[in-house]
Amino acid sequence: MSDRVGEDPAMPEQRPNRVSRRGFLGGTAAAVAAMAACSPRQTASTASSGPSPAGEVDWANEPFHGVHQAGIATIPQTYGTFVAFDLRPKTGRTELQRLMRLLTDDARRLTQGVPALADSDPELAAPAARLTITFGFGPGVFSAVDAEDQAPPALRLPSFSIDRLEKKWSGGDLLVQACADDRLTLAHAVRVIVKDARAFATVRWVQHGFRRPPSTQPLGTTQRNLFGQLDGTVNPRPGTPEFDRAVWVSDGPEWLRGGTTLVLRRIRMHLETWDELDREGKEFAIGRRLSDGAPLTGEKETDEPDFSALTPAGFPVISEMAHIRRAHVADPGMRILRRPYNYDEGITADGRSDAGLLFAAYQASIERQFIPIQRRLDEADLLNQWTTPIGSAAFAIPPGCGPDGWIGETLLG
Ligand code: HEM
Repeated sequence: MSDRVGEDPAMPEQRPNRVSRRGFLGGTAAAVAAMAACSPRQTASTASSGPSPAGEVDWANEPFHGVHQAGIATIPQTYGTFVAFDLRPKTGRTELQRLMRLLTDDARRLTQGVPALADSDPELAAPAARLTITFGFGPGVFSAVDAEDQAPPALRLPSFSIDRLEKKWSGGDLLVQACADDRLTLAHAVRVIVKDARAFATVRWVQHGFRRPPSTQPLGTTQRNLFGQLDGTVNPRPGTPEFDRAVWVSDGPEWLRGGTTLVLRRIRMHLETWDELDREGKEFAIGRRLSDGAPLTGEKETDEPDFSALTPAGFPVISEMAHIRRAHVADPGMRILRRPYNYDEGITADGRSDAGLLFAAYQASIERQFIPIQRRLDEADLLNQWTTPIGSAAFAIPPGCGPDGWIGETLLG
């Protein structure tokens, strides 16, 4: 957390929330083990003080201020809501400044468990439950302020042959990504943001996703998606030089240094036809085992796949068209950071599941990192048989700000 700048003196409430250990963990042995494997910050806060006599643990808030916005390197929270806004026609530079000052103020407070100004339900602001609120600018923001030359390359994504995009899940001028371990805290935060944005922007789409909560699985463990696969094994690790190189912008438009880009794809997963595959077929499509996520050529999840290994009959063990072969990037500093959420909207009128992945990828460069991978997957990937991208949007994610600043000031200020 060395990137974080000072705490806000005007915010005396910036303190860890206290959550009842029993209430939070449900008292099972597995859950206690889960707690032991919590994020370093939480481990530190619990290890230093230990369980208090009242049986409470410190549950730290996610810092809002910093060189980078929170919600990217942050260990993914249980729930993620992505809201895209369209700017109203009269929203120009002055209005965007007002809007971003206002929303930054909301985020600064809410992420620390403090009600927003004129919050109609202040009781819902705490616990913050690791709430992060992250802002992004789509192509429309750059047009609105007549600064299209300041947009990062490829913010308007090319089309891919696998795409079956629906307008209702695509595009957007302004993005708000809100993530928290508590669904009620999250709902309240999103409601505040939408209300405060109303004079300047209208909601274009809202997408909700979920992962396993820290009460059932240690924070930071590789997650399973709705295909049952461990998803997120090969990912840049926060705190490493490779992560910084892969994720944070260090060239191109000056204002975006310390920021990143987000590509959000809503990918429908056809669970019914996936269910028709046997286990071997499922593992062949991805190139990894379902049970433990190990590559088909290895023993453990973290083993390097051996893409040159052959079966006794002379065929590649990991198919030429397996997802992990097609998606693989050898240079760790050129990988994308995948921070996906599952979605499940129930059953459609024709009886099929409406479920899939909110595939969120962060990278320093969409052009040099995301697009080449997506092109390879578009050309050939066994997984394409069971997945369809139905939504797509890309955003520049400005750098973070200090206690006196606001998100977006390096572009709009
Ligand atoms: C519903 C759609 C998708 C599913 C179910 C899925 C699932 C998986 C799984 C199970 C893995 C192996 C474990 C891991 O390393 O995380 C994986 C790896 C990966 N996926 Fe996907 N994925 C999907 C879409 C995408 C898309 C759209 C991209 C990028 C455009 C992508 C990029 C990657 C990358 C870069 C890896 C790591 C490859 C490596 O170096 O081993 N995936 N994915």
